[in-house]
Amino acid sequence: MKKIRLRVNGTWREVIVDTETVLLDLLREDLRLTGAKQSCDRKGQCGACTVIVNSEAVRSCLTPVVDLEDADVITVEGLGTPDNPHLIQEAFVLAGAIQCGFCTPGMIMATQVLLDANSEPTTGQIKQALRRNLCRCTGYTKIIEAVKLAGRFLRGEISPDAVRPKAAQGMLGVSHPRPSALAKACGTAYFTADYQIKGALELAVLRSTVPHARIVSIDASQAKTMPGVAGVVTAADIKGTNILKYLVADRPVLCKDRVRYIGDPILAVAADTRQQAEAALEKVKVHLDPLPALSSPEAAMTDTALQLHAELPNICFDQPQIKGDAEAALPSSAAVIEARFKTQINHQAPLEPEATIAYWETDEEGGGDDQLVIIGRSINIHYHLGMLQSALGWENMRYIEAYSGGQFGIKVDVISEGIAGAAAIHFKRPVRYIPGLAESMLMTSKRHAFDMRVKLAADRQGNLTAYCNDFLVDNGAYHSIGHVVAHRALLMLSGSYHIPNIQARGRQVYTNNPWGSAARGAGPPQANFALECAMDMLAEKLGMDPFEFRLRNSLKPGQTKSTGRVVQEWPFPELMEAMRPHYQRAVKEAAANRSGKVKRGVGLGTGAFGIGMPGDTSVAAVEIDPDGGVSVYAAAADPGEGNDSMLTQLTAEFMGISLDRVRLHTRDTGNTAASGPAAGSRVTYMIGNALINALEQLKTAMQETGAKTSEELEAAGRPKRYVGRKKNEDVGPLDPKTGQGPSFESQVHAVQMVELEVDSESGKVTILKMTTAVDAGPVINPQNLTGQLEGGMDMGVGFALREEYIAGKIKDWVTFKFPTIRDSFDMEIIVKETPRPKGPRGATGVGEMCMVPTAPAVINAIKNATGVWICDLPATPEKIKAALSAAG
Ligand code: FES
Ligand code: FES
Repeated sequence: MKKIRLRVNGTWREVIVDTETVLLDLLREDLRLTGAKQSCDRKGQCGACTVIVNSEAVRSCLTPVVDLEDADVITVEGLGTPDNPHLIQEAFVLAGAIQCGFCTPGMIMATQVLLDANSEPTTGQIKQALRRNLCRCTGYTKIIEAVKLAGRFLRGEISPDAVRPKAAQGMLGVSHPRPSALAKACGTAYFTADYQIKGALELAVLRSTVPHARIVSIDASQAKTMPGVAGVVTAADIKGTNILKYLVADRPVLCKDRVRYIGDPILAVAADTRQQAEAALEKVKVHLDPLPALSSPEAAMTDTALQLHAELPNICFDQPQIKGDAEAALPSSAAVIEARFKTQINHQAPLEPEATIAYWETDEEGGGDDQLVIIGRSINIHYHLGMLQSALGWENMRYIEAYSGGQFGIKVDVISEGIAGAAAIHFKRPVRYIPGLAESMLMTSKRHAFDMRVKLAADRQGNLTAYCNDFLVDNGAYHSIGHVVAHRALLMLSGSYHIPNIQARGRQVYTNNPWGSAARGAGPPQANFALECAMDMLAEKLGMDPFEFRLRNSLKPGQTKSTGRVVQEWPFPELMEAMRPHYQRAVKEAAANRSGKVKRGVGLGTGAFGIGMPGDTSVAAVEIDPDGGVSVYAAAADPGEGNDSMLTQLTAEFMGISLDRVRLHTRDTGNTAASGPAAGSRVTYMIGNALINALEQLKTAMQETGAKTSEELEAAGRPKRYVGRKKNEDVGPLDPKTGQGPSFESQVHAVQMVELEVDSESGKVTILKMTTAVDAGPVINPQNLTGQLEGGMDMGVGFALREEYIAGKIKDWVTFKFPTIRDSFDMEIIVKETPRPKGPRGATGVGEMCMVPTAPAVINAIKNATGVWICDLPATPEKIKAALSAAG
């Protein structure tokens, strides 16, 4: 141990620490400065823990406190506060550079050091300075803009007030800062791991290291005797069903007699500290008897394959889709292409690990059970609460959503909450379950791998005649939202186009791979990859330009999608026309840059993404406040998309009040209506519509009575609270034999163009620019809209070129190939705003759109540059090199 004197945010402190203690621990655990975050397992990979030490940006997870005698440490809390923010913090807020905000404090600290040394950095210098700071949400574009804006503020060229949107500009179509942005910029927004609870037990969880085995025995006797250990929890200790049922009752909180994937949880050790729990975990002896692993859908579909779940067949979803007669259309078509496309299992990669806190609130009245409160990252708190109550056998529970460091589909399901809740109930004590990155990767759902066999045909004039897609989805070990993914792929199968004859079949199959669930787009990004690459293949065969071929085949109002549903509006041709001059320029430039070893290519991808699933419903409540402000009660999670902005701006505009008089209550099952998941890009369309419905009722009551406050409204005999609803008119599943039937109420459309270079010797791809034209209806908040598109493009490129989750091998951000700011590229966004007849103020959702056309646009551009097709994602340099050498 050593006594160290150091100055933190201007205050001298004396601490006695061992050589192991790093600055991040001192700040977070001892000084309660939780602005600095931890994403990677202290490997120096994420930069979320960045603070300033003696004027240098350092990763506090790598900085031993014993080396900091007389050091001057500044954290994000020392830079500014929400009442008195630093100009850099203001710049990040005003540039829209904060989505989930988990990376933000680290980004801001690295920016401070850069601007201290160089008040007017170039984009290249910004990329160099922030190269160690990861962000999953923004695609880095707005972060670079924020740094430049901060420079302008600091140089005195412009003030934050000059940039800040004014109320007079209106409430809609204006980039008012997100309600939570300033707190995130100042490090005062609490994420789950930021909560400390006195006396809480910390957990370590034993997980399967093999994909499939019988649990023969568990011996935790030695672990229980280890220092600080309160005990262990196994499946036998859980009083409820022990099953986390989303759609199908198949996923245990803790495995009882069988493990089904690498990462399946077996047992939790609870101790006073996480280190003690981890040390005790080493002493647990588990005897696993390996079973044959079903490593692919094909393996799981053989006659001799073991059934993964006793009550459920391995083929857990099988849905044909038949429109017209593709069999008859194919032979009479002028051109047909046939290809097989594969997409990989992928990690959604939110920056924040999967933390959960569970604690008890005493029943003050007496007589009832105490209330178990779960704090976590759920995006569907009411539904998850029900799952947990049933799995854990405890009725009196409440779920509070903390600020969440991104999710991208991963939090559609319950993850670490089950184990934390089970331990809290078992020990009747508060519990913190704060796993690291490697364990978070093991425990979470993944993007499903698709294997698609495709035929696409057209007549001599280039009109599509038929499309066949027989696809297998690797479901992994548990179902989660399962067949919704294959179902969504079928609902959007024909993409932007009119295809008169379709023959498809989607099968989803249990395997011993990581369990699949929602992942930005969930199904359509995979299926659309096949269709959009096939479009380029067919255009080439027909000798047509891929741009004109797409435009020619646009669906038109009155025509039908693959489900047979007639569409009312389809503003896709307008988007194509908006893209045309960009495409013409890019094609010319690419042709002029293809003769050397580095070859330039241009690729297109399009997509029509459905919003508002058949049968979807949503609820939101509003209440007039004593001062005439409005409180909104809707469980609309906001892990970074900007849902808080949408609710606030819609309410302010509808009621004619200022933004600061809209009070959101969105994170607690104790006071919100169950509004459904923040998933499927549905929040603006579904919850926004429910909100408008509630506001209409409130406004009518106020107009009829002349009341302006809650007191006046109640005095007039009217309630102060109104519940609004949105229910989609289309209900029910697709026809089980034909796949025809109900579909989404609205669509968001996009046309995407990628310009890239391929080094034909190394196979390395460099994205130069991505241009996207999008129509999501009238825009509520332009910065939030473009932020979603930029993040989606960046994520789509990762999906196309780099990322793949291989269980047991991918354990951190380096092996995952997480995109850094150095991978970021130029983006240009063209926005069209065709009002949607049923959208709130005409709007629809946009969060997932750019995941859908990006991968095929990248692959089409690689083909354009090099002449080779990569039909098996990700298109790594090795695959490109191999394809080039095979092509000679
Ligand atoms: S926690 Fe320090 S770099 Fe990731
Ligand atoms: S805003 Fe950067 S990780 Fe979410």
